[in-house]
Amino acid sequence: MISVDGPSGTGKGTLALRLAERLGWHFLDSGALYRLVALCAGDAGVALDDEAGVARVAHELPVRFEVSGGEFRTLLEGRDEAERLRTEDAGTAASVVAALPAVRAALLERQHQFRQLPGLVADGRDMGTVVFPDAVLKLFLTASVEVRAARRHKQLRGKGIDVSLAALLEDIRRRDQRDRQRTIAPLLPAPDAAILDTTDLGISAVEHHVIGLLRERGIA
Ligand code: DC
Repeated sequence: MISVDGPSGTGKGTLALRLAERLGWHFLDSGALYRLVALCAGDAGVALDDEAGVARVAHELPVRFEVSGGEFRTLLEGRDEAERLRTEDAGTAASVVAALPAVRAALLERQHQFRQLPGLVADGRDMGTVVFPDAVLKLFLTASVEVRAARRHKQLRGKGIDVSLAALLEDIRRRDQRDRQRTIAPLLPAPDAAILDTTDLGISAVEHHVIGLLRERGIA
């Protein structure tokens, strides 16, 4: 069990997926669960501050995940929801519902179910602190907010989506603040996490470093 936590734009999702592929382990994108809950609540006309209503949506979420050919797919009632899930609005809405204790409780059991042999790489904000506190390797990725916004900007432009860098920067700052300051399972490194600053590191360099840590622990 390996946990990969940190704010968005640090490369943690890509790193987690690459590690899962390399080890032949399962993969959990817990952020996708929070994004899906917010999306489904919106579709069902449930207000994002209606804690009991959103928690019910979280309990009933008809989601299935698939990994094939290095691609991670999120299927909601059989439909691939990648596009709607990856928008900035979905990220903000996810961060809002993620601050609700009943929603986090509703998703806990579902996340535990991903723990299957031969192992799991779990990506999120509280994987090493709350959901899988006994992970054999805990990673916490950080990077300057400017670099994270620039990465996101490049990614969106690559998809033909034109957003201003300043707006993205503001969005990321607000989301970080909400995720760090919430009272339940805030975004913070576990005391025994290895902290990696990816501001000046490409994903391959980060992966190389982590493989060294895995070898030290006899995992790879
Ligand atoms: O990793 P992401 O950008 O897809 O996550 C979207 C939001 O979901 C994030 O801003 C906070 C929330 N989240 C969380 O609270 N706990 C997690 N384990 C994963 C995500």
